[in-house]
Amino acid sequence: MAEQLTVGRVAELAGVSVRTLHHYDEIGLLEPSTRTSAGHRAYSADDVERLREVLTYRRLGFGLREIAELVDDPTTDAVAHLCRLRGLLIDQRDRAAAMVTAIDGELDARARGIRTTPEEQLRVFGTQLYDAIGSAYPATRRTEPRIAARIWAALGDARTVLNVGAGTGSYEPPDRDVTAVEPSAVMRAQRPPGAAPCVAAAAERLPFEDQSFDAAMAVSTVHHWPDPVAGLREMRRVARRVVVFTYDADDTRWRQRFWLTRDYLPEFADLLVGWPSLADLTGAIGGRAEPVLVPWDCVDGFFEAYWRRPEAYLDEHVRRAVSVWTRVGPQAEQRAVSGLRDDLSSGRWAERNRDLLALDTAELGLRLLVA
Ligand SMILES: C[S@@+](CC[C@H](N)C(=O)[O-])C[C@H]1O[C@@H](n2cnc3c(N)ncnc32)[C@H](O)[C@@H]1O
Repeated sequence: MAEQLTVGRVAELAGVSVRTLHHYDEIGLLEPSTRTSAGHRAYSADDVERLREVLTYRRLGFGLREIAELVDDPTTDAVAHLCRLRGLLIDQRDRAAAMVTAIDGELDARARGIRTTPEEQLRVFGTQLYDAIGSAYPATRRTEPRIAARIWAALGDARTVLNVGAGTGSYEPPDRDVTAVEPSAVMRAQRPPGAAPCVAAAAERLPFEDQSFDAAMAVSTVHHWPDPVAGLREMRRVARRVVVFTYDADDTRWRQRFWLTRDYLPEFADLLVGWPSLADLTGAIGGRAEPVLVPWDCVDGFFEAYWRRPEAYLDEHVRRAVSVWTRVGPQAEQRAVSGLRDDLSSGRWAERNRDLLALDTAELGLRLLVA
């Protein structure tokens, strides 16, 4: 017989009071479905799974009535619930990282005797990760022509193109009718004069009719979406063709090959835990994946761009333009940078990575998904 847990045991394991569980029972949110041999109410494995969902939504700040609707949604199975919760938690973590960055900025300003304005102090609460880090983006992030050529070729003869998670518009094709979508106000504000019109929205809920574009593209953005599969399905819904430049998170080989994550920043792997597989991503758009090699002199300063130019990672401007460094937190960042600095000056990095100097391109898990 499957294990049954008493209310006291469940309360102890979950770190909530027995009163809370009784309350959930009274309002019908979580009614223990079995009885112990002594006739007391007991929680089954399914009840515990439901409690885990309830408590996670609670921690995310949802009200009990909203939670009841979410956990009772008949269209959502256990895996879909976990994926949704994961996306929401990542979003919350990124917002917390963004707030830490904003508070660091304010502390720094105060140390220099500068008082921030009321607007600046309140902005932090409505902030997205890219609202906090986005102003550092244009310093090193620009169009890499060899990658742009691949993306534009994959767009085929599309005349109207939707660019989702468009940022400053680095990869928008100049010869087509582009509409951009970008949720961060800071990123929207940095789009150059004359750039394509930009709508404030997120991938998961695109404010467009079905099939309203010839093609939809998304570049270096899917890993930021709380629900990547939902966002890709939305792209598929609004466009006849879909082109996505992203990572293959399942392919652990490249993480072993890339010295930065292997030797200095193993925390990067934590950012990928639970990330949808390449099959899930291609499945969401009904397409295929092609590898994209990173040229040694890549001009778009994304995380892997400097694989043959290690000194670049010592530069604060390079790191601030890549969200990975904010997401792993300041401790991991400082440790990675000082380890790399030491190994560059002792010659240890060169010794370990001598073979890279003969390569012009590297396969670091980047993929073009085309449907
Ligand atoms: C690394 S930037 C890439 C910007 C641009 N595509 C490029 O290649 O330069 C990631 C962008 O994704 C945006 N983003 C974050 N969450 C999003 C979401 N749910 N839907 C659409 N875009 C999102 C961020 O605001 C940010 O501008």
